[in-house]
Formats: sequence, C-alpha cells, structure tokens
Amino acid sequence: MTGVLRPGHAQVRVLDLEASIKFYRDVLGLVETGRDAQGRVYFKCWDERDHSSYVIREADSAGIDFFGFKVLDKATLDRLEADLRAYGLATTRIPAGEMLETGERVRFQLPSGHLIELYAEKTAVGNGLGTTNPAPWGASREHGIAPIRLDHGLLYGPNIAEVQKIFVDVLGFYLVERVLTEDGQTSAAVWLSCSHKVHDIAFAEYPEPGKLHHCSFLMESWESVLRAGDIMSMNKVAVDIGPTRHGITRGCTIYAWDPSGNRFETFMGGYHPYPDYEPLTWTFDNFGQGLDYPQRKLHETFLTVVT
Ligand SMILES: [Fe+2]
Repeated sequence: MTGVLRPGHAQVRVLDLEASIKFYRDVLGLVETGRDAQGRVYFKCWDERDHSSYVIREADSAGIDFFGFKVLDKATLDRLEADLRAYGLATTRIPAGEMLETGERVRFQLPSGHLIELYAEKTAVGNGLGTTNPAPWGASREHGIAPIRLDHGLLYGPNIAEVQKIFVDVLGFYLVERVLTEDGQTSAAVWLSCSHKVHDIAFAEYPEPGKLHHCSFLMESWESVLRAGDIMSMNKVAVDIGPTRHGITRGCTIYAWDPSGNRFETFMGGYHPYPDYEPLTWTFDNFGQGLDYPQRKLHETFLTVVT
C-alpha cells in the first residue's frame, strides 16, 4: 500500500467529559493513552499500534471536529498536499505536537463541510504484546467491548459527488458501493476505500454540513458483536439498530449512541474489494435491505439522527 494508508484518528466532541471517559474506557473498552493541556483525552483500540485513534474533548454540542488519515511517509504527505492545492483546495499545516505524539498534519475542508487531516507520523506505542513471539491477545482485549481498531467513519453533508471526486481523483480512493437517489440520477451515499476494506470512509448527502453519522470500531467476529450488544444492554447504552447485517458492505453491525448522542458502530465482516472491481449499486427502493438486510427496513434514525 502507498499513499493514504488508513483512518488514523477522529476527534469527537462530548458534553460531559468524565461520563464520556468512563463510557469510552470501561464500556467501549478503549485504552486511554493520554490527556493534553487543552483537556483532550486520547484513546486507542487494544490492537492498534499508534498512540491514539479516538480523541474526545468537552464542548457545548456533540459532533466531530475532524477525521484524519495516516499516509505512508512525509514525502507522501507533501505530495498529497500539493495535489490538493493543485485541485483547488486550501490546505493548512498544523504543527507537530499539537496533538499528542502526532507529527505535522495537513488539514483541508471538504465541500461537505468536514475537516479532513492527513499526517505521516504518530508515535508507535504498540499493542502491549511486543513484536517478537507475541501472544495473540492480552488483558486489554477483555476489558469492555474492546474493538480491534477504528475502522471507518460515515459523515453526512452536502455535495458528496464533489467529495467523492476529491477522494478518488486526488487521494487515490476508489468507490466500493453507492446508494442512488430516488430519481436514480445521483448518489445518496457512497462508500470509499483506500485499501482492501469495504470502506475507509463513507458519505451521505445531507443538507447540513459537517455532520457525524458514526465512527465505526472493528470487532473480531459476529460473536464479539453479539457480546458488544450484551455489554451495551448491561450498561444501558442507547442502541439504534442491530445486531444485524448490512446489505451494503455485508458487514455485521450494531449502531448505538455514546452518552452525548454521538453514534458509534461495532462492526465486523464485509468482503475484500480491489480497486478494479465494478462498484456495487443499490437503488433507493432497496436502501432498507442495504441498511438492515434481514429486516429490509430503512430505519428513520439512520436518515435523520446525526451530531
Ligand atoms: Fe459503518
């Protein structure tokens, strides 16, 4: 892999920092890795090797500040910044160290209103298992829901056709699946990959800019998704949809809300696309199957509840 490697970090706003720390650490089971002078709290999933992937800060409204991708190296960061500028997008450089253990970031705003970042460096802290003769898992995999990694995000905003062009033509992503609008003329939602994953980022057309639909966390198995559902119920977490299977991506899922109303997903599965695959298309009348294959139901909350 070259270019953009993967989703690297998301920074999400929460209403009550202490309640959110408890939730993300003890219910979702992320590993807390640091706090900074701005009051931000940093987490990683147990099997991630870089310092942090999910950052929360206290604010008056929930939602997402930015979503970041790790790129191969500093030369790639420079090249992608030049490509973004040549395309006509303004970029800004955020100095190394502004986020804990993170190098310089290139930030730009999408026509959907979202702030996207690229960076090449984040301190590798490891997963606690070492790199020589490692055990397959350790105690952190047994604490709370304990996802493996931040897998992808789904963002809602306007102009997603233009957003898709930026990701495909400039950043080297490819379209994996899409849902058409009711008239079949444009996309209502698109699933984009920079890897073998069914999506690294997805967007849905929505009138308000900059909205978060969900950040998704990867689970190891369907059984672990069901276990996540058990832990959600034990802790009175507000569940939105699932456990069920998406038709789109074939992933197995639970959507639920954090204490601030930010939706998150515990997810597993999907197939393994290549960039030469023809994208899969869902017509709007089958969006219900795309979202919830067994129930064939286009849940109202999926279309209307965002932060
Ligand atoms: Fe998702």
